[in-house]
Formats: sequence, C-alpha cells, structure tokens
Amino acid sequence: MATAGSAIGLGSLWRFPYVAGENGGGAFVLLYLIFTFLIGLPVFIGELVLGRYSQKSALLSYYELSNNSSNWRILGWLNVFSCLLILSYYSVVSGWCLSYVIMSLNKFSVGRSADEIKEVFTVLYSSPGINLFWFGIFLLINMGIVFSGVRKGIEHWAKILMPGLFLSLMGLFCYAVSLPGFKDALIFTFKPDFHRLGASGILNALGMAFFTLSVGLGIIVTYGSYMKKDENIPYNGTLIAFMTVFVSLISALTIFPIVFTFGFPPEGGPGLVFQTLPVLFAKLPASILISTIFFALLFFAALTSTISLLETIVANMLDLFNMNRKTATMIAAALTFVIGIPSALSGSESLFPTWKLIYGKNFFDTVNYLTASWFMPIGGLFITIFLGWRLDKAISMREFNLGTKRRYLAIPWFFMLRWVAPVAVFIIILQETGLINLTTLFY
Ligand code: PHE
Repeated sequence: MATAGSAIGLGSLWRFPYVAGENGGGAFVLLYLIFTFLIGLPVFIGELVLGRYSQKSALLSYYELSNNSSNWRILGWLNVFSCLLILSYYSVVSGWCLSYVIMSLNKFSVGRSADEIKEVFTVLYSSPGINLFWFGIFLLINMGIVFSGVRKGIEHWAKILMPGLFLSLMGLFCYAVSLPGFKDALIFTFKPDFHRLGASGILNALGMAFFTLSVGLGIIVTYGSYMKKDENIPYNGTLIAFMTVFVSLISALTIFPIVFTFGFPPEGGPGLVFQTLPVLFAKLPASILISTIFFALLFFAALTSTISLLETIVANMLDLFNMNRKTATMIAAALTFVIGIPSALSGSESLFPTWKLIYGKNFFDTVNYLTASWFMPIGGLFITIFLGWRLDKAISMREFNLGTKRRYLAIPWFFMLRWVAPVAVFIIILQETGLINLTTLFY
C-alpha cells in the first residue's frame, strides 16, 4: 500500500490532466498508456527486484552490485538529486491542497461563477508569502512523518485514506458523466489525433509514465528493500501500474467534462484541477463538506508520494554517512525548502522575474518539465542498463521468481528490461533532440 501510495498522487490527479490537455489529449493519452506498460512497468518491477535483493537504497545498490564502480555511484547521485528537485516543487503544489482545504471551509466557491472560481487560483498562485507559508507547513508535516520511518505510520493511514480518495473520485466522476461536456471530454481523451500532439508530446508522455509510477529515481528500489521475500513482485507491480493508470484516466475524465461544459481551455496549465473541480463542488449539495474532504484527501495522496521522495533521500544519506535518521531528515527537508523557494515564488515572479523570458517556462514549470521528461527517463534508462546488462541475469531472475508461481513471466520481463525499454527510451530521446522524426510515421 505504501508503494501504491507513492505512485498514486498528484501525478495522476493533478499533473496528468493538465499535461494531457497541453499536449492535445487522445494521442498523448494513448502513448502514455503504451509507455506505462511497455517501459514503465518492467522498470518498476526491476527496481523492486533490485531493492529486495540488495536490501539497500539505490545508491549503495548500484555501487556494491557493480563491484564498487564509481560510475554507477553517479547514477545514484543523479537519482537523489532528482528526488530533491521533484520534492521541492511537488511540495509547493501540495501546499496548494492545504490552502484549498482552508479555503473550502471558508466557502470560497459558494455563490461564485466559474470564472470567479478560476480567478481564485490565479490570486493564490501569485501570492508569494502564502505560497511559501503552505509549502513550509507541508514540508514540516512530511518531515515529522519521515522521522519515524515509513513502515510505522503511513501504511496504516494509506490503507484507510487511499480507498477514501478513490471512492470520492469515483463519486465526482459519476457526476461529471452527467455534464453536457462529457462527450467532448471522452473524444478529447480517447480519440488519438496525432496532429494535435505537442512538439515534445512523445517525450512528455514517456515522462508522464515514469512520473506517475515514481519510477527511474531509485525510489522503488528503496521500497523494494522493505519488501518481504515471499511477497509477489510481478503481481504487486502490475496491480499498482493498473491502479495508477486507472486513477489518471478517471481524473482526466472528471476534469475535462467541466472544462468543456464551462468553456475553459484544456491547456489551462498547473492550475487546471484547482480551477475546475471547485466549479463542480459549488453545484453539489453540501458543497463545503465535499470540497473540504476532497482537498484533504488530495493532500493525503500528495503526502504519501512526497514521503517516498523524502524517505529515499534520507535512506540514501543513512546508507552513506554516519548520521542518525532525525539529522538526515532535517538536513534533507531544509535543503528541499531552499531549492523550492524559487518554485513557490514562480507565480508572483518575485524571484527571477526574467526566468520565463529566458527559458520559455517559469522556474516551477522548468523544474517540473526537466525532472519528469528528462531526469526520470534517463534515470530509468540507466536502471534498465544496470539490471539488463550489468547485474548477473540469474540474480534478477531468481529474485523475480521468489514469491510468485508464474515463473514463466521472468523471461518476457527480462527481455523487456534488457531490450525493449532501453531501446525505446533511447529512440524517444533521439526524437526529442531532432535527430530522427517519428511523427512522420503517424501522419
Ligand atoms: N508518482 C507520484 C505521483 O504520481 C509522483 C512521484 C514522482 C513520486 C516521483 C515520487 C517520485 O504523484
């Protein structure tokens, strides 16, 4: 449940709908599904296998299992660095969830028009102090939980609150089905139109598959190291991949009907979820209650993901340095806060005001794009190379087979890991650099 909690979070609920919207819908969604099962899932299972076998976090796993090669240690550092970056901006978004809980209690959407509700997010996004405040509070909560270790607290709460989130999402989805824009939403989400795929659409879809599965950063290696030997890795991995994809799709199919019913642009950017769902809440009876509960659950879903990020950074630090858990957690959280400040201030442009002018995206969007679309796939590429080529094949196969009766699955899994995943990631990166042009295939 903790691993599912890491995978299912704002990636599916917040990031997937708006990035799908920006990348033209159907074609992007189709690629996302293909990449999740063809590339993401084999790597996900590979990370679990590696972690459970080594009983270590990513950095030491790569290092020790490669006969202490310092090259492989670099991969570990890249992983830890990416976790820090993701945690920094993801916590800003999680802070918005906290803010929306309080705003809901204050009936912020009652009696307001769709456009006015939309405007509320714009005001929040451009408030420097408020962003920093909630970002800081969220990190403190995170730190408090990681102090005591993953196993103790989170698993218990994840078992209760994740199904809660799921049920309320399904409830909202049922309501969204009745909106006049639902048909357009279905077409937008499922009808692949490759002409509408954005310029970096293929790479973004790959990044989205990695991001929503939390794969390519060694996080799942850490969680694998906490798994018991008799637990079934392929089954758990596949189940989590299906759950993640399902939540992503339901989330999109709840948000796009609102978009099309009220004439919002689907490419509304990072505010999309926060601007659309409250419009729906405002129309429901007991809207304050529903809105508060939903944002509280969204906050919790964010928490189970950020815990995995912070936990991974801390676990790597504990493996490497002689320090106690509390000190490591505090150092990691403090570092995250400092790195996150420019993201928290992106909407107000009170820091780096010319960033967007120079890089085409504000700081928040830059970190968001770089980590998901580049660092995670590249991290994943090296993990496949490590598992598929560097580590003894017999070790991976044996670890894969412990706890499962379906031993025949080990062969196709290893083939995907060794050939399909790295070659596909490599081709997609070539495509992004402009050396080849795959889109001509679709036209
Ligand atoms: N998978 C998480 C989500 O979808 C995000 C995440 C990415 C968590 C990377 C950990 C690492 O919300």
